Amino acid sequence: MPAGAAPGREPNPLYDLESRYERPPQLSLSPALFQKFQKLIYEETGIWLGSSKTALLCGRLFRRLRELEITSLKNYYERVSQPDQEEERARMIDAITTNETRFFREPRQFDFLVHTVFPRWQAEAIRGARPKRLRMWSAGCSSGEEPYTLAMLLASHFAAEEGWDVRLAATDISNRVLEKARRGIYPMAKQTELPQHLLHGFMLRGAVEHEGEMKVRVEIQRMIEFRRLNLNQEARLPEAPFDAIFCRNVLIYFDNASKQRVVANLERQLTLNGFLFVGHAENLTNMSNELRSLESTIYIKAGKEERR
Ligand SMILES: C[S@@+](CC[C@H](N)C(=O)[O-])C[C@H]1O[C@@H](n2cnc3c(N)ncnc32)[C@H](O)[C@@H]1O
Repeated sequence: MPAGAAPGREPNPLYDLESRYERPPQLSLSPALFQKFQKLIYEETGIWLGSSKTALLCGRLFRRLRELEITSLKNYYERVSQPDQEEERARMIDAITTNETRFFREPRQFDFLVHTVFPRWQAEAIRGARPKRLRMWSAGCSSGEEPYTLAMLLASHFAAEEGWDVRLAATDISNRVLEKARRGIYPMAKQTELPQHLLHGFMLRGAVEHEGEMKVRVEIQRMIEFRRLNLNQEARLPEAPFDAIFCRNVLIYFDNASKQRVVANLERQLTLNGFLFVGHAENLTNMSNELRSLESTIYIKAGKEERR
């Protein structure tokens, strides 16, 4: 008798399903089926799931299968791989992406921005070598902490009242995290990630039903355009070219071929002397002729005479 079926009664497939799902995910995934998912995910996103990720894939897809009342990964694959199932593929990607992030993650890079890059931009504007216009892109922005960190820093150093026109693009492949990012509401526990002056200047403390939450001020939210964008597909953003791009802790999920393609696309959308920031585990050695390393995770798009 299947688990959950009451004696003397026809097994209720839904009841059966529920009871099975109350246990930890036990979805079986043969190596051949894993390879099919691996290929599908790679073609969609450029993310390469190594074969050690079998349990991760089962665990991440478990909830989605339950929502759809599909009991096997084989049936799910048959559905999600149909050409007309773009929306389902987006949901699958939502489930498998890793979205860990925080405000001021890798603070050294923000120090570099404030103490080296910002003064350079200010000086260029003063001597008329650049317009008072800045564009930045957070590529793989997750739930928004990275672009909001950038927007708060930019707002503190390049005031609109002084004529600065500052805008950010923030993109991710996952709709789930983009929704969070657009809302700009975070648990109060995250306040420790922000320096006091930015916390007080740019965050609102929630009250009544929003007790325990904080919200990014609307003037900061308005600086950012959040959009879904798959970095694996070449696309030029309307805000390009960018003075700086943050693409951190995203490239680690790609194999070399996709990484190379993504880096080339980022590089094309940087201005000359624009900066590219990557994650601490992401090295771009031999990935590009145009990017010159300034520090281990910070690159500049150098003019021809500056390369070498
Ligand atoms: C670990 S988070 C990093 C967030 C932030 N950049 C940081 O460093 O804190 C990686 C993000 O990259 C996104 N991502 C993964 N593959 C992507 C792709 N092909 N195109 C766009 N975003 C992608 C994921 O959805 C996830 O939100």
